[in-house]
Amino acid sequence: MAPRALEADPASVRRHVAVSAAITALGGLLFGYDTGVVSGALLFVKKDFGGLSNFQQELVTSLLLVGAVVGALVAGRVSDKIGRRPAVLITAVVFIVGVLLAAFTPTYPLLLVARVIIGLAVGSASMIVPLYIGEIVPPRVRGGLVSLNQLAITVGILSSYLIDYGLSGTGNWRLMFGLAAIPAAALFIGMLFQQESPHWLIRQGREDDARQVLRRLRDDGDIDAEISEVREISQREGGLRDLISPRVRPLLMVGVMLAVFQQITGINTVIYYAPTLLQGAGFGNSGALLANVVNGAVNVGMTIVAIWLLDKVGRRPLLLSGTAGMAVGMAITACCFIGGSQLHGALAIVAVLGLLIYTGSFAIGLGPVFWLLIAEIYPLKIRGAAMSVASTANWAANFVVTVSFLTLLTAIGGTGAFFLFGFLTLVALAYFWRKVPETKGRSLQEIERDLVRS
Ligand code: GLC
Repeated sequence: MAPRALEADPASVRRHVAVSAAITALGGLLFGYDTGVVSGALLFVKKDFGGLSNFQQELVTSLLLVGAVVGALVAGRVSDKIGRRPAVLITAVVFIVGVLLAAFTPTYPLLLVARVIIGLAVGSASMIVPLYIGEIVPPRVRGGLVSLNQLAITVGILSSYLIDYGLSGTGNWRLMFGLAAIPAAALFIGMLFQQESPHWLIRQGREDDARQVLRRLRDDGDIDAEISEVREISQREGGLRDLISPRVRPLLMVGVMLAVFQQITGINTVIYYAPTLLQGAGFGNSGALLANVVNGAVNVGMTIVAIWLLDKVGRRPLLLSGTAGMAVGMAITACCFIGGSQLHGALAIVAVLGLLIYTGSFAIGLGPVFWLLIAEIYPLKIRGAAMSVASTANWAANFVVTVSFLTLLTAIGGTGAFFLFGFLTLVALAYFWRKVPETKGRSLQEIERDLVRS
């Protein structure tokens, strides 16, 4: 059978695996870009539609998150039913439709519709990309390659800042939104050349197809052993009911808690509102924007460090030390605001340093580790559905924090808000310490055998 594939040399297998992961991670790029682009675009959208109220502007931002809640909820079932690859292809089409509608919309209400559609795709991509990459790559590099998704998210956010900045002279918000059609089309075309996840194929009883696919994806290890292990776990009893069975419920809880902690510790208030916060603290326009771009760059840079380390030192050490670092960063920034809301000289620099420590620590731990772990800890049979639950919780928490943050700020001030996030980060740390398992270096089958006792 397929002698050519049997002779595939290890270097070309590794290249094939990395390229497949990178193509799929374009979904992460779109996630980051589409969530980041709106802040800069809004300034001009507002003018073009004859002045929008604050509430009308907030809708443009937050309807994406509502769409994402729904997208994440639906995508898991879809990917369990029709396969991972078609689910990514559909997601890419939804991206293209939403982005083009946003770029060409004649009216404000249609822009809202576009944002919901883009949100559906973002929510779906957020879970399907780590799911698919997690199943196609070999265990020893899974941490790094799945986290290419988080790297792409951070690159997407940073490029949206830069593009907004670059286009701000022309005020062309349609182009700001529309440029995302390029990576969306690339994701669709790239995905046409990918194969279905071998684990999903085995679950469908299509073992010959799975063997063909695995020959291109494994340079070591025994393909037949992998097939029989996956077959064995996929023959276990169970279905959706399993989600709340006593065997799986604790893992579902871990995923949901990681999801919620990832958001309520404040990352997106920094990502979405840093310029507003810094302006409020007395920074000039360009100082605030510059600090924002530096923060975005630190986010990218430290995610690269995480990718390098995840399969070496493991998930837990990075998660725990990163979360501790977030608390330190938040405490530093909070302390700077104690004397009043206006910051000058050295104090202003220390406050920004605190934010950079916070973001860098997020990027090395909780940022990538959440999306990675939920792709690793669930049984194959319900992996898509369980990941849906965790990602939906993530988007819902993101929505709640984002829409309430400015009110929170008025109620308890910068110091109060930052201390609150710092405190929640410590609670998260205690929880992670006690409950989050290590998954480094083990196959998904081994993890399932260890974590889900039947
Ligand atoms: C993670 C979070 C996302 C956040 C991003 C920032 O992917 O899930 O909400 O915007 O990190 O890097």
